[in-house]
Amino acid sequence: METAVVIGVGPLEGLGATLCRAAAGEGLHVVVAGRSPDKLTAVVAAIEGEGGAATAVACDTTDEDKVTALFEAAEVIGPVSLAIYNAGNNMPSVFLDTSVEHFEKCYRVGLLGGFLFAREALRKMAPRGSGCLLFTGASASMRGKPGFAAFTAAKGGLRNLAQSLAREFHPQGIHVGHVVIDGGIYGEKIERNFPEYFDKLGEEGLIGREGIAEAFMYLYRQPHNAWSHELDLRTHVENF
Ligand SMILES: NC(=O)c1ccc[n+]([C@@H]2O[C@H](COP(=O)([O-])OP(=O)(O)OC[C@H]3O[C@@H](n4cnc5c(N)ncnc54)[C@H](OP(=O)(O)O)[C@@H]3O)[C@@H](O)[C@H]2O)c1
Repeated sequence: METAVVIGVGPLEGLGATLCRAAAGEGLHVVVAGRSPDKLTAVVAAIEGEGGAATAVACDTTDEDKVTALFEAAEVIGPVSLAIYNAGNNMPSVFLDTSVEHFEKCYRVGLLGGFLFAREALRKMAPRGSGCLLFTGASASMRGKPGFAAFTAAKGGLRNLAQSLAREFHPQGIHVGHVVIDGGIYGEKIERNFPEYFDKLGEEGLIGREGIAEAFMYLYRQPHNAWSHELDLRTHVENF
């Protein structure tokens, strides 16, 4: 059975968990990776309850050895045919008060982790000449805004990393994609952190997780003579 490795998985009502369930729906054994074992276990249970197969692996994506071990564990189950880098940490800050620690936190999760994850995924995929590597982007991948300099620097860097990898690895048979999520997601993060905004925008104004996951799986399913590198998603009411 081929495997999917998804890193940056949190609560069931988050994007990471939805991506895992969608990957299981493609018949892949999903390696569910993130920092919080209890959340990973809940996602595995949900997938198994739906008739799919999944394994939880605790992994901080900024830890080089852990990321290497994550792909070693996945390949014991089966060859990795889909790898999704979903980890991200949107932390706004007043620029003149932004500490080195804050900037580094954004950079380590938003960009360095993406590099480590991509390198290990491609080390497995490249010798086989097949596989699909996808990255979760945000509005910040495309444009900077006041108060988001650190997050934007990381997300913009991740997008450029994905472009470089696409141009290097498409000729080797590996599909590299980047999905720009241009707006808030209808999910646990916004509901918990910005309850008024969540209630105000509701399902019409926040991007649906199922639709996002469908876009990722569309990229995964594309035949190699018709590949997209990037998709952008927003609600019909989003100003852009
Ligand atoms: N939420 C939005 O409105 C929104 C909008 C546009 C784009 N995005 C993008 O969507 C992705 C996340 O979606 P989401 O907000 O619904 O969250 P999510 O997928 O529910 O959760 C992401 C998970 O990433 C995990 N994570 C953070 N740092 C990590 C690390 N160093 N190593 C491994 N895992 C780590 C967190 O785990 P813990 O639970 O352990 O902290 C968190 O639960 C991010 O790339 C984000 O930039 C989100």
